[in-house]
Amino acid sequence: MRSPGSWTTTGRAAVRLATSHWDVDGHFTVRHAVFVEEQAIFSGSDVDDRDFEPGTLHAVAATDDLVVGAVRLYRTDAAGTWRGDRLAALVDHRRRGTLGARLVRFAVATAGRCGGTRMDALIQMPNVRFFHALGWSPCGDLVVFHGVPHQPMDIPLSPGP
Ligand SMILES: CC(C)(COP(=O)(O)OP(=O)(O)OC[C@H]1O[C@@H](n2cnc3c(N)ncnc32)[C@H](O)[C@@H]1OP(=O)(O)O)[C@@H](O)C(=O)NCCC(=O)NCCS
Repeated sequence: MRSPGSWTTTGRAAVRLATSHWDVDGHFTVRHAVFVEEQAIFSGSDVDDRDFEPGTLHAVAATDDLVVGAVRLYRTDAAGTWRGDRLAALVDHRRRGTLGARLVRFAVATAGRCGGTRMDALIQMPNVRFFHALGWSPCGDLVVFHGVPHQPMDIPLSPGP
C-alpha cells in the first residue's frame, strides 16, 4: 500500500499502531500478500471477526511511502493474556535488518503497556528459532492451524517505562 502522491523512498520503517486509513489499508494489504497470496494459508481473505472487535490492535511497519510489515494483537482473557498473530513482512523486506523483530518487540511492549501479563502466539515451525531469539519459549504441544503445524510459544509481559 503506497501513500497517496508518493512513489519514492524506502528507508528505515517506522513501527506504530495503525490509526490512519492509509496504515489500516496497508496492514491488510501486507497480510493479504503474505497469508493469502504467498503462503495460501487462507483462501480469499485472512480477515476474520477478530479484526472488527474494538479491543483488537493492528500495527504496521511503514516507510514514507509503503507499509511493509504488519502484526495484530488482542487480549484473550481476564488474567491478562494477549495473543499476537498475523505477523508478516513483505517478502522483499525480509532479512534486511530488524523489521520482523521490531514488529514482535512492538507487539510485546504494547500488550505490556495495556496491562497484559503474558503474550502467546502460534508460531510456524520455520520461525520458532526467530521467536526463541526474541525471548519467547514453547508453551504447549504442536497444533495444526489452517492445515499448517504451529508451535505455541509465549513470553512474559511487563508494563514497561
Ligand atoms: C517471520 C518474519 C516476519 C521475520 O521478518 P524479518 O524482517 O525477516 O525478520 P528480521 O530481519 O527482523 O530478523 C531478525 C533476526 O532473526 C533472523 N531470522 C529471521 N527470520 C528467521 C527465521 N525464520 N528463522 C531463524 N532466524 C530468523 C534474522 O536473520 C535476524 O537475525 P540477526 O539479528 O542475527 O541478523 C518474516 O520472515 C515473514 O513475514 N515471514 C512470512 C510470514 C510468517 O511466517 N509469519 C509468521 C507466522 S508465525
